[in-house]
Amino acid sequence: MKNINLCIAGLGNVGSALVDLIEKNTELVNFKADLNINILGLSAKNKNKKRIFDVSKYKWFQNPLDLLSVDGLAPDILVELIGYEKDISYELVKSAIKNKINVVTGNKAMLAKYGQELFKIAEENKVLLLFEAAVAGGIPVIKTLKNIIFSNKIKKISGILNGTTNYILTTMELENKSFGDVLNDAKQKGFTSDHESELDIGGYDAAHKLTLLTSLAYSAQIDFNLNQIEGIYNITIEDINFVKKLGYKIKLISECSLIENKIYASTKPKLIPINSPMANANGALNAINIETDHLESLYLEGEGAGGPPTASSVFSDILEISSKSLTKSLGFSYSKLIKFEKFNSSNLESKYFLRVRVKDQPGVLSKITSYFNDNNISIEKILQIPDNDSKSMPIVITTHKIKSSELLSSVKKIADLEFILDKISLIPIEY
Ligand SMILES: NC(=O)c1ccc[n+]([C@@H]2O[C@H](COP(=O)([O-])OP(=O)(O)OC[C@H]3O[C@@H](n4cnc5c(N)ncnc54)[C@H](OP(=O)(O)O)[C@@H]3O)[C@@H](O)[C@H]2O)c1
Repeated sequence: MKNINLCIAGLGNVGSALVDLIEKNTELVNFKADLNINILGLSAKNKNKKRIFDVSKYKWFQNPLDLLSVDGLAPDILVELIGYEKDISYELVKSAIKNKINVVTGNKAMLAKYGQELFKIAEENKVLLLFEAAVAGGIPVIKTLKNIIFSNKIKKISGILNGTTNYILTTMELENKSFGDVLNDAKQKGFTSDHESELDIGGYDAAHKLTLLTSLAYSAQIDFNLNQIEGIYNITIEDINFVKKLGYKIKLISECSLIENKIYASTKPKLIPINSPMANANGALNAINIETDHLESLYLEGEGAGGPPTASSVFSDILEISSKSLTKSLGFSYSKLIKFEKFNSSNLESKYFLRVRVKDQPGVLSKITSYFNDNNISIEKILQIPDNDSKSMPIVITTHKIKSSELLSSVKKIADLEFILDKISLIPIEY
């Protein structure tokens, strides 16, 4: 039986679920892997907080840095589940790998910003810095890319990488509620906090995860600045109901590909065909589709957050280190990472959905149509939707493929027309 000494910093949703998993599944792990996990020490902010396991059974360290040497013994693996982008999380991980201690973390924010430096230090010190839990919680997408489809050329990765925004969009649709109302409900139920919701709703959390997927897919240097990010702040219940009539759902989609040898990494709301699996990944689920030169579509869907699913991913990294099946944190050497330029997405063509509220007066529809024709924007469908307001009405348009730069400059001009009453919603359509 092989013994692995572990220290865990951070005992919140994931850290506590990890201790619980180790306690409850010890026999299973012993049996399947001849592995005995020994927790040398724990650290969190508040020792007296009630947790789902009995803290008194373990050695407690108020300062997480003290976990790097417990009674003179360094752990085989330090698990970082505190979650700050920098501060103690970064200091702890950096100190551990510099001291030749393997690290497992779920901290996508830290890796998206400082991964480039941290993976280099880990490799120089011949230790692993593993992060399965950092992307899509319980879905094993990192190991899939690193170990299983390693030999494939990745054409595109796209997916729903943030559970909170998916929960909000799904609940808006199912309960016909406004964005603000659903967000307040989510905060009251403890799904998200003020600070977290900014990261989630602004698209930054999904972009952190996409940064890591982009690096694994294209051996790209880990550079958060390659991302183009737009959150879901402007999505209204009207948009959701209109697009449904057109056969679509709105999802916050993160996608990356290599175009003209530049990185296109985008997180923004998109229209997804209503019958596609991703349109039906509802609630807090995450979903990822990978297209490669050998696989037309590899679709993964599951719980992208929550203590137990994420702890299960953390444990898979503990097992990987214990069995030393791979010798590189990223699946290849840090020195192979390539510096790419950011692809200018204004040159990308897409179909678009537009919603505009106009004065309810004769001839408006034909004015808009001729304006679009004059500006070479080809309309696929146009719908005038009556609602309760007698003075105004919404018009919904879907376009044929057009470059976003061309559409945006025309939309700016349309917004100034005297019969346009509101901000124009503009969402690309996935096809
Ligand atoms: N939650 C998920 O579903 C999920 C999914 C994927 C990845 N992740 C990632 O996993 C990590 C942990 O997430 P989580 O949801 O478990 O976070 P969490 O519930 O907020 O827990 C954070 C833990 O860090 C401890 N902590 C805070 N400041 C500390 C300090 N200065 N020194 C020592 N401990 C400190 C807290 O202590 P107290 O408990 O005493 O307050 C708490 O136990 C994050 O990087 C997150 O992005 C989470």
